[in-house]
Amino acid sequence: MISLKVNGTVHEVDADPGTPLLWVLRDNLGLTSVKYGCGEGMCGVCTVLVDGRAERSCVTTVESVQGSEILTIEGLPADHPVKAAWTELQVPQCGYCQTGMMLQAVDVLTARPDLPDGEMAAAMDSVACRCGSHPRVIPAMRQAAGKMKEEKP
Ligand code: FES
Ligand code: FES
Repeated sequence: MISLKVNGTVHEVDADPGTPLLWVLRDNLGLTSVKYGCGEGMCGVCTVLVDGRAERSCVTTVESVQGSEILTIEGLPADHPVKAAWTELQVPQCGYCQTGMMLQAVDVLTARPDLPDGEMAAAMDSVACRCGSHPRVIPAMRQAAGKMKEEKP
């Protein structure tokens, strides 16, 4: 049995220790927001937060994240500045990449809400979007960053 803390709840899952986190989240825990793309750590659509850092769940074994706090988009509060900005500025098109995109943005902005646009864009290039949503991602990140800076103590 593997013990995983996901979105604040501890789950005991019957999985081989080497199973990619992606499949345990989707198949064992029903968190289908976590998407499969390349399966090789290249496209970013499977991104989740592990102890606050964006990780590619397709190349992360469940064994390696026991004891960590795992967050999927279901666990990100509806009023989180990133989720709110994404909704307000209607960033998604088909939506397939967007859960990974938002969680990558949370990681980037939590570390550096004052990041210049160019560096923000470079940090988000690692999540692939076939619909071409990147031009809407940066304004949404700028809006979210403003809110996150206000909220910072
Ligand atoms: S499916 Fe994980 S990086 Fe592409
Ligand atoms: S919104 Fe369709 S792949 Fe990104």
